Amino acid sequence: MCGIVGYIGKNNVKDVLINGLKSLEYRGYDSSGIALSDGKNIQIIKSIGRIKNLEDKINNEKLINAYKGIAHTRWATHGGANEINAHPHKVGKITLVHNGIIENMDYLKTKLEKQGYKFKSQTDSEIIAALIDSHLSDNTLKAINEATKEIIGSYALGIISELDKDCLYATRKDSPLLLGKGNEENFFASDITAINKYTNKFILLDEKEIAVLTEKDIKIYNDNLKEITQNIQKISIDKNSNSKLGYDHYMLKEIMEEPIVLEKTLKSYLENIDKLPDLSKYKQIHIVACGSALYAGMIGKFLFEKYANISCTCEVASEYRYKKNIYDQKTLVILISQSGETADTIAAMRQAKKENIDTLAIVNVKTSTIAREADIKLFIEAGPEIAVATTKAYILQVAMISLLAFKLAKPKLKDPKKIIDEFSKTPKIIKNILDKKETYLNIAKQIYQNENLFFIGRGLDYAISLEGSLKLKEISYIHSEAYQAGELKHGTISLVHEGMPIIAIITDDNLKDKTIANLREVEARGAKTFVICKDNLKEKETDITVPNTSDFTISLEIVPVLQLIAYEVAKLRNCDIDKPKNLAKSVTVE
Ligand code: G6P
Repeated sequence: MCGIVGYIGKNNVKDVLINGLKSLEYRGYDSSGIALSDGKNIQIIKSIGRIKNLEDKINNEKLINAYKGIAHTRWATHGGANEINAHPHKVGKITLVHNGIIENMDYLKTKLEKQGYKFKSQTDSEIIAALIDSHLSDNTLKAINEATKEIIGSYALGIISELDKDCLYATRKDSPLLLGKGNEENFFASDITAINKYTNKFILLDEKEIAVLTEKDIKIYNDNLKEITQNIQKISIDKNSNSKLGYDHYMLKEIMEEPIVLEKTLKSYLENIDKLPDLSKYKQIHIVACGSALYAGMIGKFLFEKYANISCTCEVASEYRYKKNIYDQKTLVILISQSGETADTIAAMRQAKKENIDTLAIVNVKTSTIAREADIKLFIEAGPEIAVATTKAYILQVAMISLLAFKLAKPKLKDPKKIIDEFSKTPKIIKNILDKKETYLNIAKQIYQNENLFFIGRGLDYAISLEGSLKLKEISYIHSEAYQAGELKHGTISLVHEGMPIIAIITDDNLKDKTIANLREVEARGAKTFVICKDNLKEKETDITVPNTSDFTISLEIVPVLQLIAYEVAKLRNCDIDKPKNLAKSVTVE
């Protein structure tokens, strides 16, 4: 949530910052701003709405001849989306951008007001600027260190101090921030995509470290202000990820990439399943995640229990982190996260680690906090995902957890070779599924004018429905719920009305008749029903089918169908598909 970028060097500061913000827009897009500095003057320009608005505004201003600057794209936490609340915030000699949440904001605000500080915005970020300023005498580094020690909460900060003409400061705790090392220019940003156009050398800033960036140099200090050695990593990422490659939306491009990334992620494990960790020593598994990652976990839970005969829970990280969890030394906690920066998932991981419980992370971003801190890491190879609603990363999360369940279940399976074979064929099968765009558009045309919709399924199909429903509501704003097919009649059926679309997912041969019976019940009450099923279970000409494979791979086939239906519906409703309202891709606050 919120993206920050900073630059010092001889390049055009405004261009570097705006390009950076455009790549970070997925982290929040309700307002944005930049601060430029020539060492003497600070020029702050802010705008509500998308980065494009900021860019247009900047292009109409006479800019100072800057050689350093900081910038921010916002997902509002404290205070509405307006220019006053937009970052950067300037108090006294300190100008800063902030990503995170300050929990003791009221206490700090009262304290600073007593010292004479007055606040213009409703943000917690302006308070940090004042707090640092209140500690400032002749040493900015010391002031930042003292001020951040008073903060309870999370922060990634980019700071300009009027005491220092030729440097920028950056620091973080529980919010992401990395440094980019260039040739006579240096950067910081919330993630690599903001600056990988300019450098492939990165330094991952650790908790509470403070970086001092000059044009020629970067110095890093720990929270005792002792300078520490830097670990520079060379990281290259696919430059095509920042381009739609001719597709109308990033979401569609990313769905179309699914066969390729799936093949890349699965290949080496399918060649040698021993590359996956051996989970046979564990007696119970807790899967913890948020959003789509949670729903990938639900599929994992089903497979672990049914085929590996191991007790498995799957819980929302924001609940898990605050509840009593029953562990023993044979518990494994699996965290699933695309970004690796989801605040609640990080907290759940740290809680398990504190209890000396093993943690395994399925994660996309290799430089992320979860990737750095989990005991065992399994990386999915989705590459950067730009559309806010996850697609290719989700399908890889499903693939990875399914593969893990398969490995654990393998000794108990009758024909494991057949399953390996199915996994290997999945990318090709998905490619064929993706080619049937007209079919999904046809369904979309029949549902896009409705404001309410249900997905139903049983067992694994319910787990898959959860993601289908989430995707649709996220990007089309249709109110959609996923329900266990058998549970619908216990209350929720009262919402069914004439013409209401209900989509059933049916992949379980044994439960097919049960779900069909539930469909008949809602049809009797006027619902318009649709079925997505395995080809051997097809009943009506209009049913959408996918090839009949096992439980380990069938979700991977149904998911693209659901994603494309959601996409086509949102397109028909003229929604902002890549940046749905109110959402952010990386949720770094509670
Ligand atoms: C946000 C995103 C979702 C994502 C969830 C968890 O809500 O909009 O698409 O599934 O966070 O994110 P993570 O990075 O932990 O997978």
